[in-house]
Amino acid sequence: MNRDFSSPDSRASGYRARAHAKVNLHLGVGDARADGYHELATVFQSLELHDDVRLSLTGEEIDLAVDGWEERLIESLAVTGPYAAGVPTDSGNLVWRATVNIAKRLRAERGLDAVPQVAFELRKGIPAAGGMAGGSADAAAALLLADAAFGPTSLGQPVLYEEANWLGSDIAFTLRGGTALGTGRGEQLTPMLARGTFHWAIITSNEGLSTPAVFQKVDELRAAGKGQPPHLDTAAVSQALTSGDAEHLAAVLHNDMQPAALTLRPDLRKTLAAGKAAGALAGIVSGSGPTCALLCADAAEAAEVAAQVSTELPGTRGIPTSGPARGAHLVDEAN
Ligand code: C5P
Repeated sequence: MNRDFSSPDSRASGYRARAHAKVNLHLGVGDARADGYHELATVFQSLELHDDVRLSLTGEEIDLAVDGWEERLIESLAVTGPYAAGVPTDSGNLVWRATVNIAKRLRAERGLDAVPQVAFELRKGIPAAGGMAGGSADAAAALLLADAAFGPTSLGQPVLYEEANWLGSDIAFTLRGGTALGTGRGEQLTPMLARGTFHWAIITSNEGLSTPAVFQKVDELRAAGKGQPPHLDTAAVSQALTSGDAEHLAAVLHNDMQPAALTLRPDLRKTLAAGKAAGALAGIVSGSGPTCALLCADAAEAAEVAAQVSTELPGTRGIPTSGPARGAHLVDEAN
């Protein structure tokens, strides 16, 4: 089955999506499994902080029966914005793989034998390699965009979640958004009740941390008897979320990866201390780091803490934001 992509009214010339960052309010890391992943008990919350992803149609058609179509499907992948540095613009970007996988799925399930060639523009508002799932969020957005641009009709949520899980552990959450418990390798999600809005000062670092390296350091510290035992009980965070009280949440924020991230990057201790001194209620390393998330009493405090800490610590930037927010979603082109 095929559509006429050259016909002016056959479809829009482009699609836009918004891809939100996440913070882990609780990150419990269990033992490494046989497949190399760690069993997690984590509480994700999405943040207003986001990337904008645009897909445009080049007007060319890609024949899925001709070898090498995977390389031609995406004409270009431009990355802009404050956190563009170091983000791959080739097939190393998860956006590329997400798009190819949607085309494969449409060929297998809908018998499509051609799709339009696309170009992507990613505007990075989320710090890259920072422990905030920016790459995962972009991939979630790409799944939605490719599904909208290629399919005669959507592949549907169950298929998109399946594709998300093939691509990475955090992608299902960035697709869903809100607040959720993540188990398994983080991809098995249960929505959680969360009242109110929480305000954060996000402090970036000018050098990223590799997620696998931090997981490996967690294992090493534990093997040497220096690490914390896995903290897989999320009940305290769940109660704090139900209360909607920031001070309550501040008292129970927890990250099993934090000692490992601080071993690899001792300078992050200064960020956390500067946050507390500037008036944040509490601070944690976000996911595998090196971004730190400082929980604040309200929006004004978050703006103040972000400005003060980033001024004090060279090489950092401060971003005030809040959560929960939505998962990745398509945005009207006119907006
Ligand atoms: O799933 P994703 O590709 O995002 O994971 C990146 C890496 O992080 C994995 O290859 C693995 O080394 C590590 N990881 C892990 N346990 C998890 C999630 C990720 O060890 N639950």
